[in-house]
Amino acid sequence: MAQVGWYGLGSMGLAMASNLQRHLVARKALNLVYSNRTMSRGAPLQALGAIPEPSFETLFSQCGIIFTMVANDSVLQNLLSSAVSSGHSLKDKIFVDCSTVHPETVSKAVAQLKSKDASYVAAPVFGGKPIAVDGKLVFAIGGPKSATDVVKPLIQDVMGRRVIECGEDATKSSLLKIAGNIVTVNMMEAVGEAQVFAEKTGLGTGPMEELIGEAFGAVAGGYSKRLTTGAYAPPLDSRPGFGVSLAIKDAKHAMAMASDHGIQLPGLEIARLNMEAARAYGGECLDSSAMYGTLRQMAALGFGNEKSRKV
Ligand SMILES: NC(=O)c1ccc[n+]([C@@H]2O[C@H](COP(=O)([O-])OP(=O)(O)OC[C@H]3O[C@@H](n4cnc5c(N)ncnc54)[C@H](OP(=O)(O)O)[C@@H]3O)[C@@H](O)[C@H]2O)c1
Repeated sequence: MAQVGWYGLGSMGLAMASNLQRHLVARKALNLVYSNRTMSRGAPLQALGAIPEPSFETLFSQCGIIFTMVANDSVLQNLLSSAVSSGHSLKDKIFVDCSTVHPETVSKAVAQLKSKDASYVAAPVFGGKPIAVDGKLVFAIGGPKSATDVVKPLIQDVMGRRVIECGEDATKSSLLKIAGNIVTVNMMEAVGEAQVFAEKTGLGTGPMEELIGEAFGAVAGGYSKRLTTGAYAPPLDSRPGFGVSLAIKDAKHAMAMASDHGIQLPGLEIARLNMEAARAYGGECLDSSAMYGTLRQMAALGFGNEKSRKV
């Protein structure tokens, strides 16, 4: 198997890369080579036997398969542009991006890499950090079959429980991810509204959480736990599970595409505005579920709850 490389060790990337490294060790394959802007975040991965490489240029030049899991479109574009303009041969390399990016970013990446005889596979993921830790993410994979066939064994039952095939057009994967996040963000808003209602009416968040988990499923129950455990506003020295700016980015991608196609997304727009208000009040160190803080403020409960950071 080709040398596998990984760039991006945020909330999701570190968990995913750790599962991939464990798989490579079990297969007696070459250890993962990893890089990140903040290299110190890779210490747990290095402890599993992966090899740190501070330079992305050195990393991609020595790897045949390069995974990326980064914050947003511009970070991905910068990485790929640096590879394409580096002068190194990219022939037959496979770049696999798992971040959530706009389909136009994917189109550009496909064209850039094709011009260098390399392949781009879009493999965005569904599921938060705990699911990434368990290796149970859902992937939406799209790209040339010759490349996806090589990549899928590194995903299925390694980092993910399910791979949804989106065909050879990689933009379809990113479209599915963005469509899925319309549900995710609306569901966080709905759970937040229900929990504010439960608290303010005296029903209590405990019975509400039990109902949400039982009647609406584990995902909705997980969103409720982010509120009742205070994870929506975590300590300033921690990294949120799914940063509020990332969810705002995802909502904006969906709204831009909706506008291009004459579609209204009024629920998503309300959730986006509530997330923007939360960020303006509490700063960057907030989870995507922090629209709950805004909803609490609207109900005169105060942004923070007894388990959250004192915001
Ligand atoms: N968290 C979730 O629940 C979730 C679920 C599904 C999909 N996603 C998507 O997956 C992607 C990663 O999410 P995440 O939660 O892992 O994000 P994260 O914790 O914020 O990590 C972002 C990663 O991008 C790197 N990065 C940020 N800005 C950079 C820059 N200017 N130059 C170079 N590297 C930079 C970070 O490096 P440092 O470590 O140095 O900061 C880190 O490796 C995002 O596109 C997100 O929308 C997230």
